[in-house]
Amino acid sequence: MKVLLVILGIVVVAAIAFVAGCRILANRSTEATVALTAKVPGKIAVVYYSQSKVGNTATVAKWIAKHTGGELVPLETVEAYPDAYGETLKAAKKDMENGGTRAIKSVPPLDGYDVVFIGTPIWYGTYVPPVAEFFKTHSFAGKTIVPFCTHGGGGAGRYFVDVRKACPAATVKEGLTIRGSNQVERRLGTGVTVHHTEDDVVNWLNAVFAATAASATTGDALDFQTDTFKTQEGKTVTITAIKHASLRIQYDGLEIQVDPVAKYAPETDYSKFPKADVILVTHEHFDHFDSDTIATLKKDGTEIVANPAVQKMLGFGTALANGESRVLAKEINLDAVPAYNTTPGHTQFHPKGRDNGYVLTMDGLRIYIAGDTEDIPEMSALKDIDVAFLPCNQPYTMTPEQVAKAARTIKPKVLFPYHYSQTPIKQVADLLADSGIDVRIRNYQ
Ligand SMILES: Cc1cc2nc3c(=O)[nH]c(=O)nc-3n(C[C@H](O)[C@H](O)[C@H](O)COP(=O)(O)O)c2cc1C
Repeated sequence: MKVLLVILGIVVVAAIAFVAGCRILANRSTEATVALTAKVPGKIAVVYYSQSKVGNTATVAKWIAKHTGGELVPLETVEAYPDAYGETLKAAKKDMENGGTRAIKSVPPLDGYDVVFIGTPIWYGTYVPPVAEFFKTHSFAGKTIVPFCTHGGGGAGRYFVDVRKACPAATVKEGLTIRGSNQVERRLGTGVTVHHTEDDVVNWLNAVFAATAASATTGDALDFQTDTFKTQEGKTVTITAIKHASLRIQYDGLEIQVDPVAKYAPETDYSKFPKADVILVTHEHFDHFDSDTIATLKKDGTEIVANPAVQKMLGFGTALANGESRVLAKEINLDAVPAYNTTPGHTQFHPKGRDNGYVLTMDGLRIYIAGDTEDIPEMSALKDIDVAFLPCNQPYTMTPEQVAKAARTIKPKVLFPYHYSQTPIKQVADLLADSGIDVRIRNYQ
């Protein structure tokens, strides 16, 4: 009996020590010591689901709202999940097997909001069924989505990829992953243990919106959608969707403009962009080549690379023909690849051998900008493409079906359908829903 009492005593002491330890973590710095320096543009909502009002995700949501001035929008289920962890697991599994959603109390359409933070606990590797219901019942076209999550040790899982799939017409920013407590701690009554500090949240906000702050200094660049990617060594590549076939790439201090055209609608004031270090032109059509805009962007030392026909029209720059390569500043490798029509009756638009697509390799990150082309056999030779731009408008380039076929051949990690004019472009995302390709729709009409 005495021995039993001693063992019981040790267990109780150990449990108290464990709980106390958790509380130390829980109470670690609750006030931010760093300031928000970046500007989060527009009207902000911080939408989240958390299993309790003092839950981990609720805590992070409140920190975000506090620093951004965003409006907190908690998602509440019509029928609550059970309190006991094991029962919640079972109920969540059942929801996921029955379509993946759980009814939530009504949330207004968020029409007036520009930036929507969306927070979720990670359940079974992704967002929870009430958040799935929120995605299903709301439209995010043209909005900026900023995902964040808390988890019990397994990380964000598929969450960030799943968010992009749920809102293909939104700009999705880099998400925040925070390790929360596990449910056992909650049941022991230790309350919230978010194993990060408020500082981590502010630092993340500064990093995510730093590009916006920087571009604010370059005029109305703020109005364009941007995506960021990391190179092998962790350098940032920012791609700005200007319009139709025109995009801007920023890498390691370099400004690269692809097919810049001011006059093609909507008219763009390129004088507001920094002068370009590199200008790439794919071919001579008016929605790709504009010598006035090249003059606006050009400075001493700008490297201009074009297909041979455009280089001849310009009278300066470097001509690169299909199959030729060139090393640009910062050791960027540039390959000129074929771009042409194959459909009978369309081949006059882009005859074989005249126009270029480009593959840029920057510190291991490979970006394929297809130019005006159909799904040509040469695409099967493109390997290890991280980011692809494929054109989608008839009769000049591809149908959504052709784009989907080309994407399945090239297998990029991220696909931007571009040059799509009035094509109902969401079809491309639908056709590739099972492909594992992250299809991102931006303003490339
Ligand atoms: C049904 C269920 C499933 C969970 N699945 C995962 C998981 O797959 N990976 C993980 O790291 N944590 C998982 N967790 C832990 C929660 O993500 C974690 O405790 C989270 O911080 C809870 O947030 P909340 O307090 O805002 O509800 C799961 C929790 C529950 C209740």
